[in-house]
Amino acid sequence: MAAILDKLHNDHINFSKLLVFLEQQLALLKDCESCDLNTMVEAIEYMKNYPDLIHHPLENVVFQYYLDHYDSKNNDVLEVMEEHEEMPLLTNKLLEILRSVLADVPQERSVLCDSLSAYLSVQKEHMNIEEAKIYPQLSSAFNDQDWKNIDSELTDVEDPLFGRQVEQSYQRLRLHIL
Ligand SMILES: [Fe+2]
Ligand SMILES: [Fe+2]
Repeated sequence: MAAILDKLHNDHINFSKLLVFLEQQLALLKDCESCDLNTMVEAIEYMKNYPDLIHHPLENVVFQYYLDHYDSKNNDVLEVMEEHEEMPLLTNKLLEILRSVLADVPQERSVLCDSLSAYLSVQKEHMNIEEAKIYPQLSSAFNDQDWKNIDSELTDVEDPLFGRQVEQSYQRLRLHIL
């Protein structure tokens, strides 16, 4: 697998670990148990700062190259690129709800449950389509020169949570997730 796809795939593995944590919190919420709101906020802040801000734009460069050179009407690719536009809005909405709960603003438990549940579904479905359909398509379509061309457009940004250098603000979260 090309190094870029390998990196994107590895990102998905990491995001899945975070989603497992959030799923556990959702199960607690549904059982009317107390959940770890602080860590949930940190997890969603990470979703805003890395997947939404770095991973998806990186995918957009690769996907756009595929549209430009191989299949401009590929529905799966067009759809996930559209989702890349919408996902930061969902992240912000969920973050807003979590922060208001943390600030003791009265909030129905079901609002947080529904928002978190919808968020998790969107994230998982999105990654599944990329993994099952899009990445394999790119992998078989692109040649070495394509990957070199794409690589020249990219800047390497380290993952602040799962990378070699864990940012100070994510150290607590990392201990929780791993
Ligand atoms: Fe994506
Ligand atoms: Fe992705």
